[in-house]
Amino acid sequence: MATNFKALVVSKTEEDKYIREIKERSTDDLPEGDVLVKVNYSSLNYKDALSAIGSKGVTRNYPHTPGVDSSGVVEQSSSDNIQPGEEVIVHAYDLGVNTSGGFGQYIRVPVDWIVKLPNGLTQRDAMIYGTAGFTAAQCIYKMEHNGVSPGDGEVLVTGATGGVGSTAVAMLAKLGYEVVASTGKTDQSQFLKDIGAKEIISREDSADLSRPLLKGRWAGVVDTVGGDILATAIHSTKQHGTVTCCGNVGGHQLNTNVYPFILRGVDLLGVDSQNYPMQGRVAIWKKMANEWKIDNLELLCNEISLDGLNENIDLILQGKQKGRVLVNLQK
Ligand SMILES: NC(=O)c1ccc[n+]([C@@H]2O[C@H](COP(=O)([O-])OP(=O)(O)OC[C@H]3O[C@@H](n4cnc5c(N)ncnc54)[C@H](OP(=O)(O)O)[C@@H]3O)[C@@H](O)[C@H]2O)c1
Repeated sequence: MATNFKALVVSKTEEDKYIREIKERSTDDLPEGDVLVKVNYSSLNYKDALSAIGSKGVTRNYPHTPGVDSSGVVEQSSSDNIQPGEEVIVHAYDLGVNTSGGFGQYIRVPVDWIVKLPNGLTQRDAMIYGTAGFTAAQCIYKMEHNGVSPGDGEVLVTGATGGVGSTAVAMLAKLGYEVVASTGKTDQSQFLKDIGAKEIISREDSADLSRPLLKGRWAGVVDTVGGDILATAIHSTKQHGTVTCCGNVGGHQLNTNVYPFILRGVDLLGVDSQNYPMQGRVAIWKKMANEWKIDNLELLCNEISLDGLNENIDLILQGKQKGRVLVNLQK
């Protein structure tokens, strides 16, 4: 039997504009899939905002409900691997991209997209992390597998007050790293210190392309912005350090040279959370629920309901968000 539910719906007008409305939808209108999930929490990521403004690189078909993140409870399942009543996380793959996403109170998805909620996390915790937190964890996971450890020296996080940035700062600090936070919001220095940064540097001081190599300072880097800031981070990474690259809010071009790679052995590692294999996905969520769990997730969290999405989408597009926007769909 069909159930009606509330969702953010983005529609394209005849004038090629995109409008966002909270509408009533029916589970009958959801795509086919193995598992129907009642979504209790979602969160806002930069990619969701792009989907909400008609960015063709993200979403092709409208009307559409964005939301790459969701946590909730299975309501119906045609798979033996997951039962009604189980608590789950569904994020990435095609959710919220071209499949109706977590900004609606129900989703229907393939069973292969589902992560069972690990012990140690509530549905709410999971969405304070969301894809942003998962991506930060994936950067750290890759850095550590490449040989970086807490005793190696300072680690840089760029775009530090943003979703990926703030979760990276807090997680790295929890793991014992000396975290330096690069931010365009120096008025948020206290927030960054509260979540674990030991030093703050301004966005302006984070971009210096005056020389092909700068003094080697970073043992590791979590870069969420790309462009000249990523290039500068590569040029200031010390011998055998590792730079992880996951975002492009500051630009998609990379103006670098071979010296950091051939003289210092710096490694540049790419991070893609969308299609990361399920086995690794489950392992990373387990770490986020246990030894990597951020002590005070609430410090990162600004909770809203579906009604609050409109203004928060505008804020994230302007680079003005701080921490994570948790969307409570039970309200
Ligand atoms: N590869 C993946 O799998 C993956 C997964 C998740 C996200 N991402 C990408 O990671 C990036 C961050 O996502 P998010 O959800 O964390 O977004 P977000 O919450 O908006 O954070 C981005 C932060 O970057 C800084 N920033 C904004 N505009 C900037 C500019 N023009 N130049 C330099 N810095 C700027 C701001 O922090 P400060 O003011 O503190 O500098 C902003 O808060 C996005 O590009 C997103 O697409 C990639």
